[in-house]
Amino acid sequence: MKLPIDGARLQKEIDELSLISEQPAPVVTRVLFSEADLRGRDFVKNLFRQAGLAVREDAVGNIFARWEGRDKSAPALATGSHIDAIPNAGKYDGVVGVLGAIEAVRALQKTGFVPQRSIECIVFTAEEPTRFGLGCLGSRILAGTLSKDKIAGLRDRDGHDLEFWRKRAHLPGGDPAAARLAENTYASFVELHIEQGPILEQRNLAIGIVEKIAAPSSLRLQLTGVGGHAGAVLMPGRRDALLAGAEIALEVEKAALASGSPDTVATTGVFRIEPGAVNSVPCHATLEIDLRDTQLASRDAALKKIEAAAVEICHRRGIGLQLERVNVDAPAICDGALVQSVSGVCEELGLSFTKMISRAYHDTLFMARICPATMIFIPCRGGVSHRPDEYSSPQQIADGVAVLAGTLRRLVE
Ligand code: GLV
Ligand code: MN
Ligand code: MN
Repeated sequence: MKLPIDGARLQKEIDELSLISEQPAPVVTRVLFSEADLRGRDFVKNLFRQAGLAVREDAVGNIFARWEGRDKSAPALATGSHIDAIPNAGKYDGVVGVLGAIEAVRALQKTGFVPQRSIECIVFTAEEPTRFGLGCLGSRILAGTLSKDKIAGLRDRDGHDLEFWRKRAHLPGGDPAAARLAENTYASFVELHIEQGPILEQRNLAIGIVEKIAAPSSLRLQLTGVGGHAGAVLMPGRRDALLAGAEIALEVEKAALASGSPDTVATTGVFRIEPGAVNSVPCHATLEIDLRDTQLASRDAALKKIEAAAVEICHRRGIGLQLERVNVDAPAICDGALVQSVSGVCEELGLSFTKMISRAYHDTLFMARICPATMIFIPCRGGVSHRPDEYSSPQQIADGVAVLAGTLRRLVE
């Protein structure tokens, strides 16, 4: 049966949420637990409640909205994504999977459908690494992959820890590690998301079904040199932290280009210097490096190369180096039976589709560790994401929601 997806209402909600931002439209910036993020979370919780779902939050701010099934004790089927947005982002990354999940539920409700097993829509805390430098924070904790010490050691650039932000956000509970999910909490997890790449658009396909998520990793480097007067400190005596960082950033690029795999991508996305005055030699630099690959072997080889280069460069330049592996994750393999279910729904709806790899990471990377999981991708214009001009059309979004709703119905009947 065709589901009554209200694409216009969903688009209106996407537009409304995009205006809850730290920067004026069309820029969307919603860093975890910022004023805008807190207002965004309220916006979404209200929509969940209006749809009749029971809303709860855990100690790290993951939001769960439950549509109770006939069999209350059976493990629920979960869907969802994130609403936090990196600086200078667009309005679709993550949001399509959250607001799309609400629309999928509303469409199912409209048909009079009552699920046998419960459906939970999840809004994950900090899929984006902006606040703490660590992506997928909420889903990592749900999957039990972060130790208490690692969570307690998280700091943002102002030195604030998770506890500080938990209190500001009035989150319940005490121990963030206790947010870990009990075994068999979920029967499966399906995340709707924009592709963030060009393949679906180039091939004129409506849907991508994710079979694998590339393996992410990231490094944080603190470089300490010696500052001084830009006019007075002569060149031979300098220990300039920026220059060491610049050399390292070039080695990051080289390591990816020389990995032998076209799938190795490496980015120095954060490069901060202190004191940041034109007439002062930079005494300190912070670099955050993102390195990914679909294959572990080439990712790990590039990681070692970058680390060795950083050690050599800092030694040669007399710069102190503190190097931290923030995360080094395995790829996720999605569940074959779930992928088949989503394929079946696409066929039923007459939507063209392909199976594919996700090069971006998602909370599914960690949900796949605790239950069968996959993702539904929709095209985005030019493959553009993490930019204000990110765009998917209302029809493309409605198609994705139709596949999500059809999949939920199939899996909870
Ligand atoms: C997610 O936002 C990613 O960086 O892949
Ligand atoms: Mn993102
Ligand atoms: Mn995302």
